[in-house]
Amino acid sequence: EAQSGFRRTARLAPADAATAGALLAAGRLVAFPTETVYGLGADATDAGAVADLYAAKGRPAFNPLISHVPSAPDAMRLGRFDAHARVLAEAFWPGPLTLVVPVTEDCPVSDLARAGLATLALRVPAHPLARAVLAAAGRPIAAPSANRSGRVSPTTAAHVFDDLAGRIDAVLDGGATHVGVESTIVACFGAEVRMLRPGGVSRAELERVLGRPLDGDVADDAARPLAPGRLLSHYAPAAPVRLDATEVRPGEALLAFGPLVPGAESATAVENLSPTGDLREAAANLFAALRRLDAAGPAAIAVAPIPSDGLGEAIRDRLERAAAPR
Ligand code: TXA
Ligand code: MG
Repeated sequence: EAQSGFRRTARLAPADAATAGALLAAGRLVAFPTETVYGLGADATDAGAVADLYAAKGRPAFNPLISHVPSAPDAMRLGRFDAHARVLAEAFWPGPLTLVVPVTEDCPVSDLARAGLATLALRVPAHPLARAVLAAAGRPIAAPSANRSGRVSPTTAAHVFDDLAGRIDAVLDGGATHVGVESTIVACFGAEVRMLRPGGVSRAELERVLGRPLDGDVADDAARPLAPGRLLSHYAPAAPVRLDATEVRPGEALLAFGPLVPGAESATAVENLSPTGDLREAAANLFAALRRLDAAGPAAIAVAPIPSDGLGEAIRDRLERAAAPR
């Protein structure tokens, strides 16, 4: 893993969003909140800044990054939008959707941020602080989730400090993010529309707006991920994760959803994603709950069954990766 030099990591308040943007424009690494998770920003047009970002995360450099921009017209200068991409951008931006489209000829995003691909991932976030940062930066900002590579994504500034203090220049603290799972990634090219990663916009919402089903599913194809870097083992807590647990075994912590499963009273720790079984609430709580359970040092984390409709698809995807063999 590449070493990044020690940096003093400043905590910025919401009123400092313009400072965060100016630091990014100067080639520094700044984490900021989006409505999904905290992103670790770098100037996408500056290959040096992007190289620093990969080093700070300890991320394999073949993994391309999402470029964040303030508006759909900005995005349309960087990528070529077909009819499907336009419909989706119109319906869901700003918001938790990333579109992968062919890159324009004179696109200033560095090859390193795109991992040399002919396509580009673009997102217009809705979080007011993210929007203020992007407006102040005045250029596309590459921003993967602000965690060390392979770790659970951060939904608070404290999570970012836990993983990246000393490795990045600043964290803009905007409190807890409200969606809680990353953006849905949809690829639009060659007349097809494919979901590359389930996320904050559900499959049903996408299909309703498109007026047709999505094309062939690649989100589950771990052997040949269309989104490079969708490694099967990802979002990994230190403790092993056991899915669809209908009881808690000795030494296990419980990640509950709805009513508690048998044995919950003897669990080493319990977090309930949503006592009422609300998938939106569960998504918002997911990563913080995983971090808290992991900190309790259990033999394993037992995860109660979670339905796969709506945001459940994204929640189950993250948990399946957390449970995958490392
Ligand atoms: O919600 C989010 O999307 C967060 C916030 C910070 O915006 N960002 C995020 O970025 O999750 P990251 O880097 O953790 O995930 C980016 C994903 C990776 O799986 C990558 O492989 C995929 O996007 N990706 C990027 N460019 C791509 C491309 N040209 N084709 C296919 N997949 C691409
Ligand atoms: Mg990530």
